[in-house]
Amino acid sequence: MATTLIQGGTVVSAIGRREADVLIDGESIAAILAPGHAAAYGITPDVVIDATGKYVVPGGVDAHVHMSLPFGGTVSADDFDTGSRAAAWGGVTTIIDFASQTVGLDVREALAARHIEAAGECHVDYAFHQIIGDVNEASLEAMTYLVENEGITSFKMFMAYPGVFYSDDGKILRAMQNASESGALMMMHAENGIAIDVLVAQSLARGDSDPKYHSYTRPEELESEATHRAIKLARVAGNVPLYIVHMSASEALEEVSRAQHMGLNVFAETCPQYLYLSIEDHLAQPGFEGAKWVCSTPLRSKHEHHQKDLWKGLRMNELAVVSTDHCPFCMKDQKELGLGDFSKIPNGMGGVEHRMEMIYQGVVMGEMTLERWVETCCTTPARMFGLEKKGVLEPGADADVLVWDPNTKTKIGVNDKHHMAMDHSSYEGFEVDGKVDTVISRGRVVVANDTYLGAKGHGQFVKRSLNRYIH
Ligand code: URP
Ligand code: ZN
Ligand code: ZN
Repeated sequence: MATTLIQGGTVVSAIGRREADVLIDGESIAAILAPGHAAAYGITPDVVIDATGKYVVPGGVDAHVHMSLPFGGTVSADDFDTGSRAAAWGGVTTIIDFASQTVGLDVREALAARHIEAAGECHVDYAFHQIIGDVNEASLEAMTYLVENEGITSFKMFMAYPGVFYSDDGKILRAMQNASESGALMMMHAENGIAIDVLVAQSLARGDSDPKYHSYTRPEELESEATHRAIKLARVAGNVPLYIVHMSASEALEEVSRAQHMGLNVFAETCPQYLYLSIEDHLAQPGFEGAKWVCSTPLRSKHEHHQKDLWKGLRMNELAVVSTDHCPFCMKDQKELGLGDFSKIPNGMGGVEHRMEMIYQGVVMGEMTLERWVETCCTTPARMFGLEKKGVLEPGADADVLVWDPNTKTKIGVNDKHHMAMDHSSYEGFEVDGKVDTVISRGRVVVANDTYLGAKGHGQFVKRSLNRYIH
C-alpha cells in the first residue's frame, strides 16, 4: 500500500486549526502528525505533497445532487460520470444522489435500477437517498428494508410538483411514522405545490410567462407554510428527524429556528444559489436568459434580506448543511422547452463543482469562519447522513482530502473553470478567493496542478448508518 504525506499545511477541522502533517496509508488516514515528525518516526512516504501556506481539509460532501434525473420532460445534463468528475474538480469527494420511486413503481426495483446506472461510472464515492413518491403498504415495508439492509437511511418526499413527486399530508405522515420506527431521516421539499399550481395557471392566463414568474408564483409564504406543516407532521409522527432541503427564504428559516428552540429534531440545508443569486440580477434577466436560474425553491429578491438571513442561519447552526441541489439543464434543447411558458422550463441548476469555492468566499466576506466552512460542507453532511468514514481527517477515516490554496483566485465561467456538462454556468463571471489545489479520493490523487488524474469507476457506493445527531 502506498503512503502519502501531506506536509507543511494548516489542517482545518470543524472545531479548530493547527499546523500538522497528514499521513495516508492506502485508502485511509493513518495519522495526523506534528509538523516534521514523520521523519522522526522513521516514516519514508512514497509520495510527499507540499501544502505549505495552504489549508488541508476533509474532502467535501455534497449531500444533495441529481445526476441523470428525468425531470420536466428531459434528463439532467450531468450523468454519474461527468457529474462526479466535476465534483472532484470542486474538491468534493462524496456525493449523495437519489433513487426515485414515483407512482406505480416498486421502491426496491427503483433503487436497484439506480445502482445499475451509477455502478462503475463514478469518480468519487457516492450514496443514495430514496425518494418516496407513492406511499402504500409495499413502499412502507420497503423503507424499513432499505434502512436495515441497503444503507439507505434517508427518504425524500415532496410537498411540491403535483403529478410528479408530490405526496399529500396523509401520505407524508404515514412515511414519517415509518421512519420514526426505523430511525430514518425524512427529507422534505417544502413548498405548497397545490397552491403554486393555481398561481402558475393564473400567471400564464394573464400572459405573464417569462422565467421570472417562476419565482413570483412560488412566494416565500408557500415555502414557509409547507415548512411549518412538515414540522408539525414530523412532530405528530413522534418527533421524527426532519431535514428541510434547499431552503431559500427568511420566513421558512424562522419556522426551522422556532422548531429547534422547541426541541424538535429539525435540520435544514441551503445552497450557494440562495446565498448569491437573485431575481433581480439573474432570474429577471432580459428575454429568456433567466431560464438558466429556474430552480425550486426559487431565487428570491435581493431586497428582502433572505441572503443575509441565510448566512446568519449558517453561522448560528439553524442551517446545518450547504449542499448544491446540483441538477443541471442546458439552455439548448432543455431549458428551451419552456420558451414562452416558464412552467415548462426544467427546474434545476448546476453547481456541484463550485460549492467549496462559493462558501469559502463566505469566509473571506466574514460571513462564517474557516471551521464553519469545513463543518457545513464536509463534517456535518457526513454526520447528518451517516457517512461514518467521511467528513473528517482522523486516523481510520477515508483518505478524502482537499488541499485548498487561499493565496490565489478562481474565475468561474464556461471559458474559465467549468467541468460540468452544461452549456452555461450558473456563476458565470464570479471571481472568488481561493482555489482547489489538490484533491485526494480514498488515497488516490484525483486533481493536482490543474490536471485531472482520477478515473471513472474509482468511486464506490457507500452504505450509510443512521443520522449521527439523533442516533
Ligand atoms: O429545481 C430543482 N431543485 N430541481 C431538482 C429537483 C428538486 O426539487 O430537488
Ligand atoms: Zn427538491
Ligand atoms: Zn434536489
